Amino acid sequence: MKKIAVFASGSGSNFEAIVRAEQEGRLGAAVSLLVCDQPQAAVIQKAEALNIPVFSFLPKQYSSKQAFEEEIVQELEHYGISFIFLAGYMRLIGSALLHAFEGNIINIHPSLLPAFPGKDAIGQAWEAGVKITGVTIHYVDEGMDTGRIIAQEAVNIRRTDSKETLTNAIQAIEHRLYPEVIDELAGKLERSF
Ligand code: GRF
Repeated sequence: MKKIAVFASGSGSNFEAIVRAEQEGRLGAAVSLLVCDQPQAAVIQKAEALNIPVFSFLPKQYSSKQAFEEEIVQELEHYGISFIFLAGYMRLIGSALLHAFEGNIINIHPSLLPAFPGKDAIGQAWEAGVKITGVTIHYVDEGMDTGRIIAQEAVNIRRTDSKETLTNAIQAIEHRLYPEVIDELAGKLERSF
């Protein structure tokens, strides 16, 4: 079974959905590490409750992004990780991680990219008044939400929606789609070895 790491900075609802999928035999991969750049984030308690090892760090205690990413790479190697899945990790990935895990870093974003990259994509879509938005899962490159798209799913914004109901609809898709994509990618990698 391929070992994967999830990177998150916040509440960790996607992290939890991925671990639940593993527990229910729907993942085809083992969530073996949570990496978190916010030592107070709620996702850390979720990982502890689910018995997943955590590497948390404070970026400002390091001299540079290169310095903390080199330490992350060491942790990932220690745990034998082959894939990184970003789930609300609020930082651009730098060259140390990109080189060490080239082609094996994936992100989920709550819009139909290339529309509404960056922070608060749901709020951006809501303010723009678009009638369709959605979820994108994509490979990570050095840009902000710019890598090659793996999967997308659309959500219609109805007249009766509020920003809150739209957020709930998007999260429900994320929690189903991300485990499905992880399962598919992990299976492909397994077969090619
Ligand atoms: C998700 O909407 C994800 O698409 C985005 O950040 C959010 C993380 O939410 N990149 P959570 O921490 O998984 O609840």
